[in-house]
Amino acid sequence: MTQTARVLGIETSCDETGIAVWDSARGLLSHKLYSQVKTHRQYGGVVPELASRDHVRRLPQLTVDALEEAGCLPTELDAIAYTAGPGLIGALMSGASFACAMAYALDRPALAIHHMEAHLLAPLMDNPDFSPPFAALLVSGGHSLLMQVDRIGQYTCLGQSIDDAVGEAFDKTARILDLPYPGGPALAKLAERGDPERFHFPRPMLDREGCDMSFSGLKTHARRLAEAHPEDAQAAADIAAGFQEAVVDVLVAKSQRALAQSGLDHLVVAGGVGANRRLRSRLAQALEENGQQVLWPPPEYCTDNGAMIAFAGSLRLRDPAALSGLEIRSRARWPLEELASPSPLA
Ligand code: KG4
Ligand code: ZN
Repeated sequence: MTQTARVLGIETSCDETGIAVWDSARGLLSHKLYSQVKTHRQYGGVVPELASRDHVRRLPQLTVDALEEAGCLPTELDAIAYTAGPGLIGALMSGASFACAMAYALDRPALAIHHMEAHLLAPLMDNPDFSPPFAALLVSGGHSLLMQVDRIGQYTCLGQSIDDAVGEAFDKTARILDLPYPGGPALAKLAERGDPERFHFPRPMLDREGCDMSFSGLKTHARRLAEAHPEDAQAAADIAAGFQEAVVDVLVAKSQRALAQSGLDHLVVAGGVGANRRLRSRLAQALEENGQQVLWPPPEYCTDNGAMIAFAGSLRLRDPAALSGLEIRSRARWPLEELASPSPLA
């Protein structure tokens, strides 16, 4: 029989402070998010030192609020899970120190969670019957990965971006179009008013075998077009739509290739760009036509949040080898393939 467990999740890898309480029997009890968008907007991107300081400032009250909303006393927690990496090192260390201090005070285990594993598992929060094996498309500000998931903790990379991550390409293209930070959602909104066919964008690496991808050329292409059509609002919308359509085409085709190559028929999509509506509708259509199934979390759990960390922690808690000590294990770089069961964090 599996014991029920209640886990506090702490996410501080970038510019969002996320705290949540996950109960393995009752699901998500609470979820609090503080976004630093306003702090970083004036700089056009995340300023790491400001991010770390803001996490330190927000963590205590957000934790009190999350526990209160969950109706949970700190002593009723079974473990404290925190994002150990990858991410901005100062931001990660703010969350890790806070988590380890709580774990020490409460005499509970601290769980060092891989941010991309948490993204990957997030769609399972609402779909407990869905289980590996499946393929996963992870598209965030720092990563574009196609993974084969044989079981929780065992991940093989089928393909990845050889240059910019998808979210990064969205953000940089948005800057070229003078859109406010964070660029991805702003560009997607502008694209709704644009004609994706007015400008021809290439479909990088579709002619090459395998599942690797490349997005930096699309950004460069968008820059040239924007320079050729200054002060032209309709052209900006058409560039946004053309760029988005090219990205989506590549992601759909490479996801299909990953499924074919691995012989799998289920795809999980996660990470910030997984919130993109065009990507969601095109992927659903393409896969369903083939009798394949695609699963994603609600958009608010695609972008960074504490719920996915608490949930991943509850799954990792079942594996005694996953319990980390109070040593702070933050890692700015941490390939997902280095995670392995049954000793994922050794
Ligand atoms: O997963 P996430 O919240 O943070 C990282 O781990 O990086 O992903 C953030 C990225 C940003 O690049 C943001 O612009 C992008 O996801 N993003 C989107 C959308 N929402 C967020 N990109 C395209 N369309 C969206 N709707
Ligand atoms: Zn993320």
